[in-house]
Amino acid sequence: MRGIFITMEGPDGAGKTTQIERLKEYLAEQGFDVLITREPGGTPISEAVRGILLDPAYKEMKPETELLLYASARAQLVGEVIGPAVEAGKAVISDRFVDSSVVYQGIARELGVETVYEVNRPAIGRYMPDVTFLLDLPAEVGIARKKDQAELDRMEQESMEFHRKVAEGYRILAARDPERIKTIDATLPVDTICDMIKDKVRALLSGSDV
Ligand code: TYD
Repeated sequence: MRGIFITMEGPDGAGKTTQIERLKEYLAEQGFDVLITREPGGTPISEAVRGILLDPAYKEMKPETELLLYASARAQLVGEVIGPAVEAGKAVISDRFVDSSVVYQGIARELGVETVYEVNRPAIGRYMPDVTFLLDLPAEVGIARKKDQAELDRMEQESMEFHRKVAEGYRILAARDPERIKTIDATLPVDTICDMIKDKVRALLSGSDV
């Protein structure tokens, strides 16, 4: 039996990690063997690529290089982890996936949405998410949260204008594909968000409209 593939998306500081932990508990209660992963990362090779991508020292990185590195980290993650887990019937939750590339590289870096899909086709294969949750919040709120937590990585150090494009890019993407991408207001209380996500996953599992 094929498993289920869920992705969590949103601007930096949207609170994805907390929601992923909660969703993991819920899916485990439903009897799923749950696997959590993150992008860029999730395998030794992909984590090494992550190190390059997020190192604040590499200010000279070209948008094209960035696009290809994210795609290469993804190719390894899909081939080594996500594909086999889904085929084994597991529930896979990924903290970010190709939508991040579409929004950050395609829209915010202005490389173009089509280019991003083309480059990522070999990386994704047939593993598009069954459902994606977009934790939507104003860019300023997300970055303020991040600043409170830790040192900002290379992407987080981008201009506020860049982060605004990211937040807006996600909204455009979600509007184009409301079947798969479910938008949730990330400024709501954590428990409320968690309940909304669970409701949608419950509906997905029962085969009704989400
Ligand atoms: P992430 O680890 O999710 O950061 P955070 O937990 O702080 O949200 O993602 C790292 C950064 O990489 C984040 O700023 C978004 C960016 N990113 C892209 O630009 N393109 C991509 O394809 C992915 C997966 C992430």
